[in-house]
Amino acid sequence: MRSKLIEKFGELETPFYYYDLDALEENLKALHAAYSKRGYEVHYAMKANVNDGVLSAIQKKGLGADCVSGNEVKKAIEIGFSKNDIVFAGVGKTDKEINYALNEDIFCFNVESTAELNVINDLAYAQGKEARVALRLNPNISANTHAYITTGLEDNKFGINFWELEQAIELLNDSSNLKLEGIHFHIGSQITDLSSFKNLCNKVNEIQQWFFDHNIEVDHVNVGGGLGIDYHQPDEQAIPDYESYFGLFEEFIELRPNQKLHFELGRSIVGQMGSLITRVTYIKKGISTNFAILDAGMTELIRPALYQSHHVIQNISKAHRDDLPLEKYDVVGPICESSDSFGKAILLPETERGDLIAIRSAGAYAEVMASSYNLREKAQVFFG
Ligand SMILES: Cc1ncc(COP(=O)(O)O)c(C=O)c1O
Repeated sequence: MRSKLIEKFGELETPFYYYDLDALEENLKALHAAYSKRGYEVHYAMKANVNDGVLSAIQKKGLGADCVSGNEVKKAIEIGFSKNDIVFAGVGKTDKEINYALNEDIFCFNVESTAELNVINDLAYAQGKEARVALRLNPNISANTHAYITTGLEDNKFGINFWELEQAIELLNDSSNLKLEGIHFHIGSQITDLSSFKNLCNKVNEIQQWFFDHNIEVDHVNVGGGLGIDYHQPDEQAIPDYESYFGLFEEFIELRPNQKLHFELGRSIVGQMGSLITRVTYIKKGISTNFAILDAGMTELIRPALYQSHHVIQNISKAHRDDLPLEKYDVVGPICESSDSFGKAILLPETERGDLIAIRSAGAYAEVMASSYNLREKAQVFFG
């Protein structure tokens, strides 16, 4: 983070999310360079961060939108994403959401069950429309990530399992108001082991062969998102290695002529541009540790409580105080839950009440997951 801005932080009420739009711009530049030369399409996964300023910056770069609720579709349209570039996934789309998206004529529904196929067909019929659909298939591939963000194993709730595929195709053949446009996959999030994506490519190739053998053609293959970021080194690894990521798909996926490859990236685009800025309210002595009690908690960043995730924690008030001894702190929030902790035994320069703390890599799945638990007020957002 730039030091000029850090000086300004002192005047602002904490806690707040700080979004560095220059960092986002640099990320988008690297992303664009890596995917556009390969002719790929990227839909930004809105669930990661739906802040208007962030969305506008992403929309201006020409990305599409990946939505998982009717309200996300609505927001994408309001921000100016082209309806032709909006995809809509989710296992539990309601009739209201489907009707809204049909009415807006979005690019494609990523359909997660045969039951949903039936409902979309009926609703499209009632509207006198043909719905473009992609089958979200469950490839039964491990993403080597936290269980709560693993989505591509056959006991997960997501997607249509392979043994249901014939039934889904029969249904499509009998559904006059559905048009099969693609196949869709998403195996999970915060994936740092690229071999998972290689396994996905191999599975996609097998499934494509099945489609080919059954004389079924689809215009696009959507391999979802999931590329992880480096939560341990937010400055050294500010931009993910997009070249290796897209290069892997280029090397291993076998597309049919004229087939387009689509991606749905969220975290990798916005994760590192954000920090949660908070102040130390109290230092408290524990039996074997010191607690640094912050004015931000799991209500502003739930990832550590939910996924036992790591975020770099920095005392930015004491950033240049090399003279201070390093002390260990359990860095916790004010919420009445023992899970409201950002990290145990974190080494910080001797810290005191009033110090500003930055919790890094909070651009994705932070503000969007905020809650008002304990009647907390919503934290503001400031841009740099
Ligand atoms: C269907 C779908 N696509 C894309 C994403 C984006 O994932 P990520 O933010 O890890 O890139 C998600 C999130 O889990 C998702 O559920």
